[in-house]
Amino acid sequence: MAKVKTTFFCQNCGSQYAKWQGQCNACKEWNTIVEELIQKPEKSDWKSPTSPVKKASIPLRINEIDTSKEPRLNTFDAEFNRVLGGGIVPGSLTLLGGEPGIGKSTLLLQISLKLPYKTLYVSGEESQKQIKMRAERINPENSNCYILTETKTQNIFKQIEALEPDIVIIDSIQTLHSDYIESSSGSISQIKECTTELIKFAKETATPVLLIGHITKDGNIAGPKILEHMVDTVLQFEGDRNHVFRILRAHKNRFGSTNELGIYEMQGSGLREVSNPSEILISKKDEELSGNAIAATLEGMRPLMIEVQALVSTAVYGTPQRSATGFNAKRLNMLLAVLEKRAGFRLGAKDVFLNITGGITVDDPAIDLAVVASILSSNEDVALQKDFCFAAEVGLSGEIRPVQRVEQRILEAEKLGFSTIFVSKYNKISLKNTVIKIQLISKIEDLVGFVV
Ligand code: TYD
Ligand code: MG
Repeated sequence: MAKVKTTFFCQNCGSQYAKWQGQCNACKEWNTIVEELIQKPEKSDWKSPTSPVKKASIPLRINEIDTSKEPRLNTFDAEFNRVLGGGIVPGSLTLLGGEPGIGKSTLLLQISLKLPYKTLYVSGEESQKQIKMRAERINPENSNCYILTETKTQNIFKQIEALEPDIVIIDSIQTLHSDYIESSSGSISQIKECTTELIKFAKETATPVLLIGHITKDGNIAGPKILEHMVDTVLQFEGDRNHVFRILRAHKNRFGSTNELGIYEMQGSGLREVSNPSEILISKKDEELSGNAIAATLEGMRPLMIEVQALVSTAVYGTPQRSATGFNAKRLNMLLAVLEKRAGFRLGAKDVFLNITGGITVDDPAIDLAVVASILSSNEDVALQKDFCFAAEVGLSGEIRPVQRVEQRILEAEKLGFSTIFVSKYNKISLKNTVIKIQLISKIEDLVGFVV
């Protein structure tokens, strides 16, 4: 093989070294020195037969640029299409990240089984038999889906040249390795090199590539940050592994908005698309229980009704406990302080537990009012009317603040049969003839009157 030039760079300060060492002399950081490729051999890896040698591009007037032929590949999965902004763009690179066991492989295998195009699913993690067994659980009938177990990019490109697939899926980028780099799979330089090769292939042949990426323990995609810069779209598959719901969102999207959200339910036979999420997130119960309140939140562009549960009880051991699942604990403390100061509730000596049902995490500030209502309801042990719902932010002085797109939330609440929605007086609402009662409030004290 032709000679390849590599050298070692500190990933922290950029100092260059001739060989690897544990600590960087310049910045004194440990384990930051990584081998990087500086010169490849003449022959490139991916050379499509049709691509002319290095065609230089010329500047075009912006209104002369043709955007008409940008057809997107329909994935036949409504949630996935929505998150991507209407389907897969030819020649694009999409990175799907998520915790181990969340269902990344299941999602992409399921999509490749549904596609009517020729798909190549490359796995470096599981054997062909294992994948076949998984495919049988999902949808056994598909003759267009090819499975390859391989980790060397040069071999993958050889197979791609022979097969000419319409779409390529790589599970996962961390298992790939390129011959040009010595370091082991999953190292920064390997990931960078393999991604560069895949980008070159995707752009030259207009074949979309979907990559699966592992994440580190703090939730970032493993490998260099540059990986996220290199690809066109970064999707994150999240959810609580102990719950059945999974949420797919776009963190970066060069071809659409990052506001959209896809919801799936993990079943015995793969992931089911959830087209009406509000209905499943609200537990249907007959009796009214104290401490439950429904929030009309917005996840991206989609309205989502979410149930908030609070439990307030007298602290048995010295320091009261505050714990929140699916909600920011600092924000919970702030709301408790507001309740104490502005509405006179003595919560300082009480344990407060808060839970968002369904295992999802909400950061929409419009959930504040429902959190406050559920705490009040539990504290007084009085159930809220079960057809009440809430959508407003609570400020530090106890004022009820307006939230964005309130009309969309109101309409969703009405559609689901709620009788009353509590919103801020300062929201501009131009809806007419609504069946649902829109209760405008401006201070936290106003809420107390309705709730307890
Ligand atoms: P997997 O897709 O391998 O997760 P990842 O690639 O993100 O690591 O598997 C996720 C889990 O989903 C696995 O523990 C088993 C479960 N599962 C089901 O519940 N139903 C199914 O039909 C399949 C295929 C998997
Ligand atoms: Mg997997």
